Amino acid sequence: MERLNKIRSLDELLREAERCRNCLLWNERTNLVFGEGNPNAVIMFVGEAPGFHEDQQGRPFVGAAGKLLTELIESLGLKREDVYIANVLKCRPPNNRDPLPEEINACYPFLKKQIEIISPQILCALGRHAAYVLLGHTVNMNTSHGKYYQVDGRLVFVTYHPAAALYHGKLLDGIKKDFIELKKLYDDVIQQKEEQNKKGEREQLSFW
Ligand code: URA
Repeated sequence: MERLNKIRSLDELLREAERCRNCLLWNERTNLVFGEGNPNAVIMFVGEAPGFHEDQQGRPFVGAAGKLLTELIESLGLKREDVYIANVLKCRPPNNRDPLPEEINACYPFLKKQIEIISPQILCALGRHAAYVLLGHTVNMNTSHGKYYQVDGRLVFVTYHPAAALYHGKLLDGIKKDFIELKKLYDDVIQQKEEQNKKGEREQLSFW
């Protein structure tokens, strides 16, 4: 999508996404679910696609899975407003079916641009579809969850999809443990940022 190259803000990108006809899902949606949160977030969560409630409200993760995600975000010592939340697909697939490869390809430029504009240090992939898109290859969730990978200068942390965790009790335990690891990673990133800021301030002072 050449047109996205010139875009510099989330507002412009949202307007472009509203006009998108790159797959057929726009035709069936109630609302586009672009994403929401802190445009300067250090951590960005990426889910699969809007479900019924998200489609109704035009906001990501507002149903039962969203309630769990909000609790998990709070377990990091953060509020929902501190992070950014988006999905691989911006329109709801009928009956919540899995995204089709052509829908993922059609929507990916919007996620890519969102990531570029927000520029979070950590991307948290919620489930296998997000992990596939953010890592660039299919993953075995059983072996990849709770781990992070370096991709294009960012850290991609992989965990289960909250809806899957609500469905399978074993995964609920797993996702909670993963968020303990994610908190360590987040705290490390914040500490590094603070050290870099202090170093920058010292260099500035010695320059004057
Ligand atoms: N599941 C998702 O993957 N995304 C949402 O926004 C809601 C449920």
